[in-house]
Amino acid sequence: MADRYLSLTGTAPGRFLARRLGLPQPAQLKRWSAEAPALAGDLLHLTAGKSDLDLTPVLDRTGLTRGENQPAAVVLDATGVRDVDTLAEVHAALHPVVRSVATSGRVLVLGSPLDPADHHQSAAQQALEGFTRSLGKEIGRGRTVNLLRLTDATAAESTLRFLLSPRSAYVSGQMICIDAGEVTAPADWDRPLAGRTALVTGAARGIGEAVAETLARDGAHVVVLDVPADEPDARGVAERLGGTALALDITASDAGERIAAALPDGLDVLVHNAGITRDRRLVNMPGDRWSSVLEVNLGSVLRTTDALLASGALHSGGRIVTTASIAGLAGNAGQTNYGASKAGVAGLVRALAPRALAERGVTVNAVAPGFIETRMTAAIPLFIREAGRRMNSLAQGGLPADVAETTAWLAHPASGTVNGQVVRVCGQSLLGA
Ligand SMILES: NC(=O)c1ccc[n+]([C@@H]2O[C@H](COP(=O)([O-])OP(=O)(O)OC[C@H]3O[C@@H](n4cnc5c(N)ncnc54)[C@H](O)[C@@H]3O)[C@@H](O)[C@H]2O)c1
Repeated sequence: MADRYLSLTGTAPGRFLARRLGLPQPAQLKRWSAEAPALAGDLLHLTAGKSDLDLTPVLDRTGLTRGENQPAAVVLDATGVRDVDTLAEVHAALHPVVRSVATSGRVLVLGSPLDPADHHQSAAQQALEGFTRSLGKEIGRGRTVNLLRLTDATAAESTLRFLLSPRSAYVSGQMICIDAGEVTAPADWDRPLAGRTALVTGAARGIGEAVAETLARDGAHVVVLDVPADEPDARGVAERLGGTALALDITASDAGERIAAALPDGLDVLVHNAGITRDRRLVNMPGDRWSSVLEVNLGSVLRTTDALLASGALHSGGRIVTTASIAGLAGNAGQTNYGASKAGVAGLVRALAPRALAERGVTVNAVAPGFIETRMTAAIPLFIREAGRRMNSLAQGGLPADVAETTAWLAHPASGTVNGQVVRVCGQSLLGA
């Protein structure tokens, strides 16, 4: 379903009208394409407080040129902010340049992990979160603002490249933590998944199809799993991407064993994308609507994850990316079943991530989409759909490609230091934290 309002406000009269009437003014986001794979403009590197981060070599490898000429990206290294006084340097650094950041550009604030033994450092570093989210809400013109907590720039390279590229166009207002640790850079940053196998559930259409496309672009052999009734579509996607289709209802009690049997050489990336909604308010919700949603969105995710980890089918160095939703983080009327299932996904990620990494070398993360333009959201009644599209800092819906790019970053071989994160792909939705 095309966003006609976004097209209208892309014209000069439409922009004028929106401004005069005080209506939202979404900007056309610049997304990744083979022709324009990088942000068009300079990178401006600023510092607040005394930083020990060796950032320059990693920033140099992003391919962005250094300069101040209408920067497409501003990186503020605030890892050295340890007290309220030093917070003034955050203001001093960004205040003069924020206006000049290019349309659909990036502001990336780098912070340190909170030090529980130092309440002044914790206060100052926590302040960066409120700052980031507030700037994200006011900056406008399709520009994003995110906060990355890190102790080592090399461990964060895949994340810095993602956040400083057009791939993260719909990720804003997020706080992402990077663990310390060794990472292995891929031989080719353009095809980081070459030689790897990725299975995507619910990939016959919508977000799952885009995820399969993006992982194939990054070099993976993709296995396109969907229900037997959608096998022709799944086969079509697989053929287009040079992958394999797998017709399977993910709620089958032995789904994990059947995936392992279909992939005798195992797999490297497991994307739990399949999901359904069966909306009703709790007072009107029969048990079967409750249980079908819990079963597809959560029960089967837990079961297949357990089976593929226990059998060793998911290789060491593997990646699990699950799909939560802002409805699971913020709650949504008519979606007690869906909200419960998606909050459950976040719980699964947080508890399993440290153990899966320690015992199996596998990371576990979640994407939490906001309003994404798919068949699922096209079915929402007009006025609610329109509100859903606009109720975020970018004043527009995201595209399946936005969720797919975020998934590809989490699936990246150099993202082994990104673990246990629930990353919203929601244009900084007003719903929830
Ligand atoms: N579209 C959005 O705005 C949005 C927002 C938040 C979260 N999500 C989540 O993103 C994921 C994809 O959403 P979408 O909008 O692309 O949905 P969609 O309905 O377009 O596609 C879902 C796919 O999952 C498949 N599927 C459903 N049950 C299955 C089962 N038992 N076994 C195997 N495959 C099954 C479907 O056949 C379909 O191909 C879902 O988990 C959804 O909850 C979507």
